[in-house]
Amino acid sequence: MDRYAVFGNPVAHSKSPRIHAAFARQTGQALHYEAILAPTDGFAAAIAAFRAAGGRGANVTVPFKLEACALATRLTPRAQLAGAVNTLQFNGAEVLGDNTDGAGIVRDIVHNLGHPCRACRVLLLGAGGAARGALLPLLDSQPAKLVIANRTVSKAHDLCAAFRPHAGEIAFTASAFEELAGQQFDIVINATSASLAAAAPPLPANIYAPGALAYDMMYGGDTAYLVHARAAGAAQLADGLGMLVEQAAESFALWRGVRPETAPVLAALRAGLDA
Ligand code: ATR
Repeated sequence: MDRYAVFGNPVAHSKSPRIHAAFARQTGQALHYEAILAPTDGFAAAIAAFRAAGGRGANVTVPFKLEACALATRLTPRAQLAGAVNTLQFNGAEVLGDNTDGAGIVRDIVHNLGHPCRACRVLLLGAGGAARGALLPLLDSQPAKLVIANRTVSKAHDLCAAFRPHAGEIAFTASAFEELAGQQFDIVINATSASLAAAAPPLPANIYAPGALAYDMMYGGDTAYLVHARAAGAAQLADGLGMLVEQAAESFALWRGVRPETAPVLAALRAGLDA
Protein backbone atom coordinates (compact mmCIF):
# COMPACT_ATOMS: atom_id res chain seq x y z
CA MET A 1 0.00 0.00 0.00
CA ASP A 2 1.19 3.54 -0.70
CA ARG A 3 2.43 5.15 2.50
CA TYR A 4 1.84 8.71 3.70
CA ALA A 5 2.42 10.35 7.08
CA VAL A 6 2.18 13.57 9.03
CA PHE A 7 5.44 14.67 10.67
CA GLY A 8 5.35 16.94 13.71
CA ASN A 9 6.51 17.40 17.28
CA PRO A 10 4.23 16.90 19.10
CA VAL A 11 2.05 14.90 16.72
CA ALA A 12 0.07 12.37 18.79
CA HIS A 13 -2.93 14.76 18.89
CA SER A 14 -3.07 15.04 15.08
CA LYS A 15 -6.43 14.37 13.44
CA SER A 16 -4.77 13.96 10.02
CA PRO A 17 -4.54 10.13 10.11
CA ARG A 18 -8.32 9.90 10.77
CA ILE A 19 -9.09 12.47 8.08
CA HIS A 20 -6.96 10.79 5.42
CA ALA A 21 -8.23 7.31 6.33
CA ALA A 22 -11.77 8.62 5.81
CA PHE A 23 -10.82 10.19 2.46
CA ALA A 24 -9.19 6.91 1.36
CA ARG A 25 -12.28 4.85 2.28
CA GLN A 26 -14.58 7.31 0.56
CA THR A 27 -12.61 7.45 -2.71
CA GLY A 28 -11.58 3.78 -2.75
CA GLN A 29 -7.87 4.62 -2.65
CA ALA A 30 -5.56 2.00 -1.12
CA LEU A 31 -3.18 3.91 1.13
CA HIS A 32 -1.82 3.92 4.64
CA TYR A 33 -1.42 7.19 6.59
CA GLU A 34 0.25 7.48 10.00
CA ALA A 35 1.55 10.11 12.42
CA ILE A 36 5.33 10.18 12.89
CA LEU A 37 6.99 12.02 15.76
CA ALA A 38 10.26 13.52 14.47
CA PRO A 39 12.88 14.75 16.95
CA THR A 40 13.11 18.56 16.85
CA ASP A 41 16.64 18.25 15.43
CA GLY A 42 15.88 15.24 13.24
CA PHE A 43 13.25 16.23 10.69
CA ALA A 44 15.37 15.74 7.55
CA ALA A 45 16.58 12.34 8.79
CA ALA A 46 13.02 11.24 9.58
CA ILE A 47 11.87 12.24 6.08
CA ALA A 48 14.85 10.47 4.49
CA ALA A 49 14.05 7.27 6.40
CA PHE A 50 10.39 7.47 5.38
CA ARG A 51 11.32 7.94 1.71
CA ALA A 52 13.77 5.03 1.87
CA ALA A 53 10.95 2.87 3.26
CA GLY A 54 8.77 3.74 0.25
CA GLY A 55 6.87 6.79 1.56
CA ARG A 56 5.03 8.61 -1.25
CA GLY A 57 4.19 11.88 0.47
CA ALA A 58 3.89 13.68 3.77
CA ASN A 59 2.11 16.39 5.65
CA VAL A 60 4.24 18.60 7.85
CA THR A 61 3.12 20.42 10.95
CA VAL A 62 4.61 22.44 13.80
CA PRO A 63 7.56 23.06 14.08
CA PHE A 64 8.84 21.76 10.74
CA LYS A 65 7.09 23.79 8.00
CA LEU A 66 10.11 26.02 7.32
CA GLU A 67 12.51 23.06 7.28
CA ALA A 68 10.18 21.25 4.88
CA CYS A 69 10.35 24.28 2.60
CA ALA A 70 14.16 24.16 2.65
CA LEU A 71 14.17 20.41 2.02
CA ALA A 72 11.97 20.53 -1.10
CA THR A 73 13.77 20.40 -4.44
CA ARG A 74 10.83 22.13 -6.16
CA LEU A 75 8.17 24.44 -4.70
CA THR A 76 4.71 25.35 -5.95
CA PRO A 77 4.33 29.14 -6.34
CA ARG A 78 2.01 29.31 -3.31
CA ALA A 79 4.53 27.43 -1.13
CA GLN A 80 7.34 29.68 -2.35
CA LEU A 81 5.38 32.80 -1.37
CA ALA A 82 4.28 31.31 1.94
CA GLY A 83 7.89 30.39 2.72
CA ALA A 84 6.50 27.28 4.38
CA VAL A 85 5.47 23.78 3.29
CA ASN A 86 2.76 21.57 4.80
CA THR A 87 2.67 18.99 1.98
CA LEU A 88 5.50 17.00 0.41
CA GLN A 89 5.30 14.67 -2.55
CA PHE A 90 8.15 12.31 -3.34
CA ASN A 91 8.63 11.66 -7.08
CA GLY A 92 11.86 9.71 -7.52
CA ALA A 93 14.69 12.14 -6.76
CA GLU A 94 12.31 15.13 -6.68
CA VAL A 95 10.73 16.42 -3.47
CA LEU A 96 7.81 18.68 -4.35
CA GLY A 97 6.80 21.14 -1.62
CA ASP A 98 3.30 22.65 -1.54
CA ASN A 99 1.31 24.70 0.96
CA THR A 100 -2.39 23.86 1.11
CA ASP A 101 -3.21 25.82 4.30
CA GLY A 102 -4.30 29.04 2.57
CA ALA A 103 -6.45 27.25 0.00
CA GLY A 104 -7.95 25.30 2.91
CA ILE A 105 -9.07 28.36 4.84
CA VAL A 106 -10.53 30.10 1.77
CA ARG A 107 -12.42 26.95 0.79
CA ASP A 108 -13.80 26.59 4.32
CA ILE A 109 -14.93 30.22 4.44
CA VAL A 110 -16.45 30.32 0.95
CA HIS A 111 -17.86 26.80 0.46
CA ASN A 112 -18.53 25.44 3.95
CA LEU A 113 -19.49 28.64 5.75
CA GLY A 114 -21.13 30.28 2.73
CA HIS A 115 -19.28 33.54 3.15
CA PRO A 116 -17.98 34.78 -0.21
CA CYS A 117 -14.71 36.72 0.13
CA ARG A 118 -15.15 38.50 -3.19
CA ALA A 119 -15.79 42.24 -2.71
CA CYS A 120 -15.73 41.84 1.09
CA ARG A 121 -13.71 43.75 3.69
CA VAL A 122 -11.28 41.25 5.24
CA LEU A 123 -9.13 41.75 8.34
CA LEU A 124 -6.22 39.34 8.92
CA LEU A 125 -4.87 39.37 12.48
CA GLY A 126 -1.21 38.36 12.82
CA ALA A 127 1.88 38.51 10.64
CA GLY A 128 3.63 35.21 11.45
CA GLY A 129 3.77 31.96 9.50
CA ALA A 130 0.05 31.25 9.68
CA ALA A 131 -0.86 34.68 8.28
CA ARG A 132 1.77 34.42 5.56
CA GLY A 133 0.46 31.01 4.47
CA ALA A 134 -3.07 32.35 4.02
CA LEU A 135 -2.24 35.55 2.15
CA LEU A 136 -1.97 34.49 -1.49
CA PRO A 137 -5.23 32.50 -1.57
CA LEU A 138 -6.94 35.35 0.34
CA LEU A 139 -5.76 37.92 -2.22
CA ASP A 140 -6.75 35.55 -5.04
CA SER A 141 -10.29 35.44 -3.60
CA GLN A 142 -10.63 39.12 -4.63
CA PRO A 143 -11.80 40.96 -1.51
CA ALA A 144 -12.44 44.69 -1.90
CA LYS A 145 -10.14 45.39 1.02
CA LEU A 146 -7.59 43.36 2.99
CA VAL A 147 -5.92 44.74 6.11
CA ILE A 148 -3.15 42.91 7.98
CA ALA A 149 -3.03 43.98 11.63
CA ASN A 150 -0.29 42.86 13.99
CA ARG A 151 1.02 43.66 17.48
CA THR A 152 4.46 44.27 15.95
CA VAL A 153 3.27 46.54 13.16
CA SER A 154 6.57 46.46 11.22
CA LYS A 155 5.97 42.76 10.50
CA ALA A 156 2.55 43.57 9.04
CA HIS A 157 4.17 46.19 6.80
CA ASP A 158 6.83 43.70 5.66
CA LEU A 159 4.19 41.12 4.73
CA CYS A 160 2.17 43.74 2.90
CA ALA A 161 5.22 44.78 0.88
CA ALA A 162 6.07 41.16 0.04
CA PHE A 163 2.56 40.38 -1.28
CA ARG A 164 1.84 43.79 -2.88
CA PRO A 165 2.57 42.48 -6.42
CA HIS A 166 -0.33 40.02 -5.99
CA ALA A 167 -2.87 42.54 -4.70
CA GLY A 168 -4.05 44.07 -8.00
CA GLU A 169 -6.87 46.55 -7.29
CA ILE A 170 -7.46 45.32 -3.73
CA ALA A 171 -7.08 48.00 -1.01
CA PHE A 172 -4.26 46.16 0.74
CA THR A 173 -2.71 47.77 3.84
CA ALA A 174 -0.97 47.08 7.16
CA SER A 175 -2.14 48.40 10.50
CA ALA A 176 -1.64 48.41 14.26
CA PHE A 177 -4.62 47.07 16.24
CA GLU A 178 -5.53 50.47 17.68
CA GLU A 179 -5.47 52.10 14.22
CA LEU A 180 -8.43 49.91 13.22
CA ALA A 181 -10.82 52.08 15.25
CA GLY A 182 -13.69 53.33 13.07
CA GLN A 183 -13.32 50.59 10.45
CA GLN A 184 -15.66 47.63 9.95
CA PHE A 185 -14.99 44.24 8.38
CA ASP A 186 -17.13 41.43 6.95
CA ILE A 187 -14.57 38.70 7.66
CA VAL A 188 -12.02 38.78 10.50
CA ILE A 189 -9.44 35.96 10.58
CA ASN A 190 -7.33 35.31 13.65
CA ALA A 191 -3.93 34.05 12.49
CA THR A 192 -2.14 35.03 15.70
CA SER A 193 -1.08 32.42 18.22
CA ALA A 194 -2.74 34.44 21.01
CA SER A 195 -5.45 31.80 21.55
CA LEU A 196 -2.72 29.35 22.63
CA ALA A 197 -2.14 31.64 25.62
CA ALA A 198 -5.91 32.03 26.13
CA ALA A 199 -5.62 35.65 24.94
CA ALA A 200 -7.30 37.60 22.14
CA PRO A 201 -5.77 40.40 20.04
CA PRO A 202 -6.88 43.79 21.45
CA LEU A 203 -9.36 44.99 18.82
CA PRO A 204 -11.27 48.29 18.99
CA ALA A 205 -15.07 48.16 19.51
CA ASN A 206 -17.47 47.95 16.53
CA ILE A 207 -15.00 46.19 14.26
CA TYR A 208 -17.59 43.59 13.12
CA ALA A 209 -19.94 44.70 10.32
CA PRO A 210 -23.52 43.37 10.41
CA GLY A 211 -23.42 39.66 9.46
CA ALA A 212 -19.65 39.46 9.95
CA LEU A 213 -17.76 36.18 10.23
CA ALA A 214 -15.10 35.78 12.93
CA TYR A 215 -12.73 32.93 12.07
CA ASP A 216 -10.00 31.45 14.26
CA MET A 217 -7.39 29.36 12.45
CA MET A 218 -7.00 27.39 15.67
CA TYR A 219 -9.55 24.67 16.30
CA GLY A 220 -11.10 23.55 19.53
CA GLY A 221 -14.52 25.19 19.68
CA ASP A 222 -14.66 28.31 21.79
CA THR A 223 -11.14 29.71 21.50
CA ALA A 224 -10.24 32.88 23.43
CA TYR A 225 -10.53 34.88 20.22
CA LEU A 226 -13.99 33.50 19.37
CA VAL A 227 -15.28 34.18 22.88
CA HIS A 228 -14.08 37.74 22.48
CA ALA A 229 -15.57 38.04 18.98
CA ARG A 230 -19.00 36.79 20.14
CA ALA A 231 -19.06 39.40 22.89
CA ALA A 232 -17.98 42.05 20.37
CA GLY A 233 -20.98 41.29 18.13
CA ALA A 234 -19.65 38.99 15.39
CA ALA A 235 -22.68 37.32 13.77
CA GLN A 236 -21.00 34.06 12.74
CA LEU A 237 -18.15 32.23 14.48
CA ALA A 238 -15.90 29.45 13.15
CA ASP A 239 -12.86 27.65 14.49
CA GLY A 240 -10.20 26.14 12.21
CA LEU A 241 -11.48 22.56 12.08
CA GLY A 242 -12.94 23.13 8.61
CA MET A 243 -9.62 24.57 7.45
CA LEU A 244 -7.85 21.47 8.77
CA VAL A 245 -10.12 19.16 6.77
CA GLU A 246 -9.93 21.34 3.64
CA GLN A 247 -6.12 21.59 3.65
CA ALA A 248 -6.06 17.80 4.02
CA ALA A 249 -8.39 17.40 1.03
CA GLU A 250 -6.13 19.65 -1.02
CA SER A 251 -3.08 17.51 -0.09
CA PHE A 252 -5.02 14.31 -0.86
CA ALA A 253 -6.00 15.70 -4.27
CA LEU A 254 -2.37 16.54 -5.05
CA TRP A 255 -1.16 13.06 -4.09
CA ARG A 256 -3.97 10.92 -5.49
CA GLY A 257 -5.54 13.00 -8.27
CA VAL A 258 -9.03 12.72 -6.70
CA ARG A 259 -10.76 15.33 -4.55
CA PRO A 260 -12.62 13.82 -1.59
CA GLU A 261 -15.93 15.11 -0.21
CA THR A 262 -15.09 17.06 2.93
CA ALA A 263 -18.59 17.63 4.38
CA PRO A 264 -19.17 14.13 5.86
CA VAL A 265 -15.65 14.02 7.31
CA LEU A 266 -15.99 17.45 8.90
CA ALA A 267 -19.43 16.54 10.29
CA ALA A 268 -18.06 13.35 11.86
CA LEU A 269 -15.14 15.19 13.46
CA ARG A 270 -17.50 17.84 14.82
CA ALA A 271 -19.69 15.15 16.31
CA GLY A 272 -16.62 13.63 17.97
CA LEU A 273 -17.06 10.45 15.96
CA ASP A 274 -14.55 8.52 13.93
CA ALA A 275 -14.38 10.30 10.57
P1 ATR B 1 2.53 31.09 13.58
O1 ATR B 1 3.42 30.19 12.76
O2 ATR B 1 1.50 30.37 14.39
O3 ATR B 1 1.96 32.20 12.76
P2 ATR B 1 4.48 32.91 14.59
O4 ATR B 1 5.12 32.97 13.25
O5 ATR B 1 5.34 32.81 15.81
O6 ATR B 1 3.50 31.69 14.71
O7 ATR B 1 3.52 34.18 14.71
C1 ATR B 1 2.73 34.40 15.84
C2 ATR B 1 1.80 35.57 15.57
O8 ATR B 1 0.90 35.71 16.67
C3 ATR B 1 2.51 36.91 15.44
O9 ATR B 1 1.78 37.71 14.53
C4 ATR B 1 2.42 37.46 16.85
O10 ATR B 1 2.52 38.87 16.95
P3 ATR B 1 4.00 39.56 16.99
O11 ATR B 1 4.49 39.53 15.59
O12 ATR B 1 3.72 40.94 17.48
O13 ATR B 1 4.80 38.73 17.94
C5 ATR B 1 1.02 37.04 17.21
N1 ATR B 1 0.75 36.96 18.66
C6 ATR B 1 1.20 36.05 19.54
N2 ATR B 1 0.69 36.27 20.76
C7 ATR B 1 -0.11 37.37 20.66
C8 ATR B 1 -0.94 38.10 21.58
N3 ATR B 1 -1.04 37.73 22.87
N4 ATR B 1 -1.64 39.16 21.11
C9 ATR B 1 -1.54 39.52 19.81
N5 ATR B 1 -0.79 38.86 18.90
C10 ATR B 1 -0.08 37.81 19.32
